[in-house]
This record gives sequence, C-alpha cells and structure tokens, in this order.
Amino acid sequence: MERTSGWFKDAIIYQVHVKTYRDTNGDGIGDFSGLISKLDYIRDLGVNTIWVMPFYPSPLRDDGYDIADYMRINPTFGKVEDLQTLIREAHARDLRVITELVINHTSDQHPWFARAKKAPAGSSHRDFYVWTDNPEQYQGVRIIFRDFEPSNWSFDEETGLYYWHRFFNHQPDLNFDNPEVQAEIFAIMDYWASMGVDGFRLDAIPYLYEREGTSCENLPETHAFLKKLRSYLDEKHPGLLFLAEANMWPEDSAAYFGEGDECHMNYHFPLMPRLYLALKKADRGPIEYILNRTPQIPATCQWAIFLRCHDELTLEMVTDEDRQFMWENYSPEPRARINLGIRKRLSTLMDNDLRRIKLMNALLFSMPGTPLVYYGDEIGMGDNIWLNDRDGVRTPMQWNAGLNAGFSEADPSALYLPVIADEEFHFTKINVEAAEEDPYSLLHWMRRIISIRKQYAAFGRGDFNFAEADHPSVLSYWRSYGVENILVVVNLSQVLQSTAIDLNKPGFQAVLEDLFSGRRIHAENGQIKTELHPFEFLWLTEPRPELAVLVEDKLVLGLD
Ligand code: NOJ
Repeated sequence: MERTSGWFKDAIIYQVHVKTYRDTNGDGIGDFSGLISKLDYIRDLGVNTIWVMPFYPSPLRDDGYDIADYMRINPTFGKVEDLQTLIREAHARDLRVITELVINHTSDQHPWFARAKKAPAGSSHRDFYVWTDNPEQYQGVRIIFRDFEPSNWSFDEETGLYYWHRFFNHQPDLNFDNPEVQAEIFAIMDYWASMGVDGFRLDAIPYLYEREGTSCENLPETHAFLKKLRSYLDEKHPGLLFLAEANMWPEDSAAYFGEGDECHMNYHFPLMPRLYLALKKADRGPIEYILNRTPQIPATCQWAIFLRCHDELTLEMVTDEDRQFMWENYSPEPRARINLGIRKRLSTLMDNDLRRIKLMNALLFSMPGTPLVYYGDEIGMGDNIWLNDRDGVRTPMQWNAGLNAGFSEADPSALYLPVIADEEFHFTKINVEAAEEDPYSLLHWMRRIISIRKQYAAFGRGDFNFAEADHPSVLSYWRSYGVENILVVVNLSQVLQSTAIDLNKPGFQAVLEDLFSGRRIHAENGQIKTELHPFEFLWLTEPRPELAVLVEDKLVLGLD
C-alpha cells in the first residue's frame, strides 16, 4: 500500500481484537481467519484503517497486553502467515493495519523475566527490569489499576527483591535505562514493520522511565527515547505511524507530538469524558473548556478521538467533582465502576437511545482529529458488567441471531466470554444481519455518516473554530479547509431549542444545507436562527452541485 505522508489525517480507525471477532475453528476464540473473513464488512462500514489489539503469545491475564514473546503470534489466533494474509487482504481493500507495540512492560511469563531473576545482580540481564530492595523508592507514584494493586512494587521470592510494575503485578516494567532493552525494542519494531504493518499503537507510553522525586510519568528521558525511536522509524520504515497512548492532560499529551518528531497521533483522553459530561449536563461548557485548553499541535500531527474502547471509560482526566457526576449519572450501578472509570459500552451509556448515540457519533466524526470506532459500537452492542475486569466490553461480536450470535460454532459454554444475552441488548435483536435488514438501523446510519465525512477533507484536516450560540445547550463550530466550510450545530439537550448562532464570519450570507437531511437554513448578516429538536445536530455547508446526487440518495433513504 502506498505510504502517502499524512494518510492518518484522513483515516477512520476501527478497533478490533482477533479474539472477539469471529471464530473459524470452533474453539470458542476468534482467530485471524475469522477476522479476514469479515474484512468486507469492515471495508463496507467505510473505515479505512484497522487497529488490531495484541495477538502475541500471552497468558492473557491482561487480554494480551501481557506479552510473553514479542516475535510470535499466539497460536490460538493463528500463524504468522495468517497475519501476513490479513495484512495483504486488508491492503487489497484499501484498509491499513495498525498493530501494538507494548513496550512499557512484559508478562512475568516472558523469558526475559525468568532470565532476569537468575542473572547476577548488576548484570544487564537482571537489569532488563526495574528492581529494588527498598519499596519506599518512587513513593507517591499513582497506582493505575487501583482496584487491583496496592503498590507499584511486588516482591519476588527468587531474588528477594521488589520489581516495578505500573499495571498488574504480573506485568513487570522494562528498564529503559538499559541499552540492551532499547535494542530489543528496535528489533521488535523492525520485525513487525517488515511484515507490512502500517503503524504501531504505543501502549502506556508515558511510563517508560523512573526517577526519584518525580511522578515517573512524561519524563524528559521518555521523550528523548521516543525521538530516537521515531527517527529510527522514519529512516528504516518511512510512512509508518506511531499512535501514542498517553492518558494525560492536554499539555502533557501534546508533548508526545514533540516538534513533530515523536508520535504522529495521540488520543485526546481529556476530550472523551467531556463529550459525555456535556451531553448529560446539556451544557457545551466542558467541551469548550478542554478544547480551549488544548495547545496547537505540529501540522504533521493529529489527535485520535474516540468515544469508547476496550478499557473502562476512563475518568482520570476530569476533576473529582466531574468524576462523581459521571459515576452518578452514567454508572448508578456500583458494579459498572472500575478503577477510575466505567466499564460500559456506548449504547448502554446512552440508555440505548438512538438519538443520543447518533449525537455522540456526530461529535466524534466532526471534532478535530481522526475518529476511532470500537468494534460492536456500530451496531449498538450491549455489555455485561458482571464479567471480570473490563471483559464486559470485550464480548463476542454479534453477527446474527443464530448459535453464539454467529461468532462461533463452539458449545456456548466453551466461548472465551459469553455473548450478550440480557433482554434489552440480546444478540438475537442486536446483530449485523438484523441491522442490515433494517434501513433505519444504527449500522446503516454509521455507514452514512462515515461516507459523508469522507467527502470533506475539512473534518480530518481542517481548522476548528467555535461559533457562538446564544444558548449553553447548543454547541456550534466551524470546520474549514480550503473552500470547504462546515458548520456543526448540536443540541445537547432533551428539549427543543430555538437558537441564534453568531457564525464569527461578519457579513456572511449564504444558504446552508444540512448534509444529513437536506434541510436549508439562511445565514444572514453572519448569523443563523434555527430550531433544533432534542439531541438534534446539523452539519451545514453551502450546497455543492456535485453532491446533488448524494442529497437525492439521502432523501430517498431518509435515514435520519
Ligand atoms: C493500556 C491498555 O489499553 C490496557 O488495556 C492495558 O491493560 C494497559 N495498557 C496495560 O497494558
């Protein structure tokens, strides 16, 4: 696939785990052949990139983010040839493939850890990991998995020492002060890059180094290493992407772009919960606040924006008060709360209300950045808060109303996790086949919003500027790129809103047309006046004659 620079700005990313998508050998666990068999479905959704979660040998105590061998494929999912086929078949459909570089830590089952324990103190092999005899070291560093781990240190009987881990105690952190560790990371990257992947998600990247007296996060040493990794990537594998997972406040997050010499993309973690806050409070304030606080980023970089993913909806980047509000309003069931977040999918967070699910997606697909869609959310899949850890949002993809939702032919009790079977979200109702047959389904609408987005480079590449609505429940902004100007107007509230919007374009006169419904609104003297239904949103633009066919199509389908 041609490696055009900046391709990720026009990307729409679909996140998938091989395990969860489709099982073809009847063992109850998804596999590469299954994922390959569903590539047409993924392409037809309109996305153009897939992010495949870790598929390496692993005890799977952290769903594969606990890697026991970086250079192989978990045999349960297939063989390396299957990955090669996946990449080839994806590319043949113009889909790029991003995989994972989980380099902060390994599994305790990785041979490096066994070797480290046996190696003499002070040797390079011992120092592949971070050891101490004094667990008071690095005191005050926050614990990320606070529901599971009392400390970032765990005691190892064999060495009589403590080892450092920012996540589960079975995930010892690698020691980036050791040049041999760094050399291994370069080799791992070379190996997968040579396989033809289009980029890497850098898991848990802020935590690579430890220094006394600091938070051990976002350290200058970590940034220096990333610059090294990036310059190596650019030299050896030009065009490949780094997507950082740095769950930080905007200023610290933006630092992972460096001066365009660290990561190409980074998730906008602080924006995500504020989309939910704004909706529940019927107040655009939280979104305005965080976007105003977001620094300009280098022109060659891009935010990755998302509504949900495989983890809990994290509330680390909000105030205590907002976290409490989110918990009370989106997770009244204590069981749904985990660590500092909520383990639910989009549709259950939205009480299965299609208007709100669409509104959240309309924000996702029009805010500044590259959108990510979490598998299953495009059909409104439910979750299961009674499963362990974050498993409730990682259940099998629902393809049809048959055995195991069409995910697997295995005995239902042999599935890696049960399919969703509660009354409201039962897989017999919510599945791809049913969604295909219903012209008003979320799935059809998702395909439509994605296809509309793809016609305007402004969404991925354009400037972002707020327009001023006279009511706090109405959020409005411009996305502009060259001749494209799109005005997004969103009613965050559940009541009808009459609103006047100052477009911040003095004297602007035009007929603006909604890209979804074809509804027309006149802008006069730099203002529009309109009425918005509960949770209604508009993507307004000056009509382009070449889009007439699309408008017709829309009117015929009436999928609003
Ligand atoms: C971030 C991943 O998203 C999460 O699923 C995982 O548990 C942690 N990194 C630790 O690897």
